[in-house]
Amino acid sequence: MSPSSLSGATIAVIGAGTMGAGIAQIAAQAGHRVRLHDAREGAAADAKSKLAKTLDGLVAKGKLDAAAASETLARIEPASAIAELADARLVVEAIVENLEVKRRLFAELEGIVDAGAVLATNTSSISVTAIARDLKRPERLVGMHFFNPVPLMKLVEVVSGLRTERAVADAIFELSKAWGKVPVHAKSTPGFIVNRIARPYYAETLALLHERYVTPEQADAALRAAGFRMGPCELMDLIGHDVNYAVTESVYAANYFDKRYVPSGVQRELVDGGLFGRKSGRGFYDYANGAPAAKPAGARRGEVLASAQLLVTDGRTAQQVAAETRQRDVAVFDWTVGPGGALAFAVADGASEGFAEQAAEVIAAAGYEPLRVGDAPGLVVARTVAMLVNEAADAVQQGVCEQAAADTAMKLGVNYPAGPFEWLEQVGTARVVALLGALAAHYGGERYRTSPWLVRRRLSERAA
Ligand code: NAI
Repeated sequence: MSPSSLSGATIAVIGAGTMGAGIAQIAAQAGHRVRLHDAREGAAADAKSKLAKTLDGLVAKGKLDAAAASETLARIEPASAIAELADARLVVEAIVENLEVKRRLFAELEGIVDAGAVLATNTSSISVTAIARDLKRPERLVGMHFFNPVPLMKLVEVVSGLRTERAVADAIFELSKAWGKVPVHAKSTPGFIVNRIARPYYAETLALLHERYVTPEQADAALRAAGFRMGPCELMDLIGHDVNYAVTESVYAANYFDKRYVPSGVQRELVDGGLFGRKSGRGFYDYANGAPAAKPAGARRGEVLASAQLLVTDGRTAQQVAAETRQRDVAVFDWTVGPGGALAFAVADGASEGFAEQAAEVIAAAGYEPLRVGDAPGLVVARTVAMLVNEAADAVQQGVCEQAAADTAMKLGVNYPAGPFEWLEQVGTARVVALLGALAAHYGGERYRTSPWLVRRRLSERAA
């Protein structure tokens, strides 16, 4: 199979739900004939009518010309039976997220499509290796993981299982580019790239909430100031706590209950109470009167003037620094990696009256909004960014993806303001490793262990 072999191919999409409909749309827009099938009678035709309305809307707004819209629509043919997919050279599966059901579907497809056809799954959490297990030709099954909404999200994770042939993954990679997407290669491992590396974004804030160092508003303000489009609490409310918690649980279980990925009781309580977030009217925030107004991040600011009493966090609490340096008046402040706005700081318990105000004034003088939080090790942004970098470093160490792929995936799959390896460049390995070490020392246990990839990088920097 040559990498260009899928250009102009007829494509079958199975599952005409949220994802399948979007995949059918972009394939048809790229000029492919698309056969769309769904087990539920009428679902494919319904998806096509819905798409017709979407395309009409784009035409009305002047974003698409009328001829292109009608040609796109004409290329999509609802197929009522699987047998009608015989001429497809690529089948993209986007059905229910269930291993047995997916295995059965692909086994059936093997008897219908050509021996040279490529089989792709849009699964977001099931092992591609496992789906391929009973196939006669497991080498032609590959993950083609789109993000929701498919027409807007640029990223495609091209996921190879143990037996996926490289040429098959390359063909899907090239095809994704031809569809206007930005593909990255990934090895089939729990959460692939994005859903794995993103775990700490939620987990660190949930830990801070659990230990009562911050409020949801504070965590969101601090992380928006670091450049994230949405803070973790408002984002979990948007995704839905039921969905977000289920992903965390599945990554945790798939990693043999590695404490790195442990779910949070704070979130479980919301799920158990039906407080799923926006869709149920309440999560961390109350949506009864619409979403709470999120203040945008500020403009880029100056340097906070650090001193013996006001230090940028290295993972030690203000209290610990006070004890080690034998001074009462100590404050620590968060990393400034983003455009600016709120900047978290914490003050040692025994500080003299008025010291917190002085620290806040220094922070304000540099152009930030001082945000006093509890004396958490690594505050908010520093521990979140360090753990995102740590997770990405482990993914690279384990061969899940290349560094550049991790950066691309996080920027395009979840709109991060920078990739984890870009933050590593910005902050420096020494500071990231020191912060992780301080977190590990503070909490004990395995959650904050430093990735061997970072350890090696730090050692080679020191040797140079
Ligand atoms: P959905 O529930 O909107 O659509 C699934 C469709 O598949 C339904 O129309 C259903 O009738 C049909 N279906 C179920 N079993 C079938 C079978 N055996 N044969 C043919 N059709 C069948 O689900 P959604 O959200 O589109 O997800 C589909 C797949 O994409 C899942 O594997 C999911 O994990 C994955 N995914 C979902 C994302 C999301 O944000 N919703 C993001 C990335 C991947």
